[in-house]
Amino acid sequence: MSKATVGFGIDIGGSGIKGAPVDLVTGEFTAERVRIPTPRSSTPQAVAEVIKDVFSEFEDLPHDIPIGVAFPGPIDHGVVRMAANLDDAWVGVNIETMLEDLLGQRVHAVNDADAAGFGEATFGAARNETGVIFLATLGTGIGSALIVEGHLVPNTEFGHLEIDGFDAESRAAESARAREDLDWEQWAERLQRYFSHVEMLLSPDLFVIGGGVSKHHENFLPLLEMRAPIIPAQLFNAAGIAGAAAFAADRDRYERKIAKREKEQLKKEKKKSKS
Ligand code: BGC
Repeated sequence: MSKATVGFGIDIGGSGIKGAPVDLVTGEFTAERVRIPTPRSSTPQAVAEVIKDVFSEFEDLPHDIPIGVAFPGPIDHGVVRMAANLDDAWVGVNIETMLEDLLGQRVHAVNDADAAGFGEATFGAARNETGVIFLATLGTGIGSALIVEGHLVPNTEFGHLEIDGFDAESRAAESARAREDLDWEQWAERLQRYFSHVEMLLSPDLFVIGGGVSKHHENFLPLLEMRAPIIPAQLFNAAGIAGAAAFAADRDRYERKIAKREKEQLKKEKKKSKS
């Protein structure tokens, strides 16, 4: 099997399900992104049908294209452990096997913020950065990704830190700013409280801030005082898709490596038992 140059990324969000083929060198989409609104009842079956529709909009994709799906909850070996902003029926579902049955191909699922972090580390703001990087996505919830010397530590869920008796994302996510009609200064105070706590826990070398609102970073990032530099993400809305595709390609490579190693081991054992 030759090395994939294009992957396919799908990003499941609270309002839209988006997908596009991604150039694995540049992170750019090789065809225009397709977006279908997330079904009101966001059950696994309903969302899976939409994913199939998004995927089938693209013809002539290589049959063994790596497929990555970014999901707004922690993914533990393919199994959804929590879905704060989607239907509860997701909990306990193996999203990878479910989508593999539907699409007829290997699928790798990854938390959406982890996908964004992986995308930023591969193609964007955190490219070539070393040390400990903390990426936060500020949207309906707060997603987190921790990247240590280029390696993703998955499922950190730091948006759910309890701060001052509140689930952090309920106070500091972009949705809280909109819901409570906070001005930039008021919101920045909450972000300061949140990121200072994260900084106390992790001492990152770099903060990267993603999510749709990162487009307006000049309104709030300069108001934050952190020890480490705090910079906006570069991929904006593309981060989930590009990151999921790159993640899938990486996992495919890893699985092939393991399969090869096991095959060689088996061969060795066979040879040994014959002699
Ligand atoms: C979820 C995270 C997710 C984040 C952003 C949180 O509520 O628990 O898994 O990354 O929202 O979608």
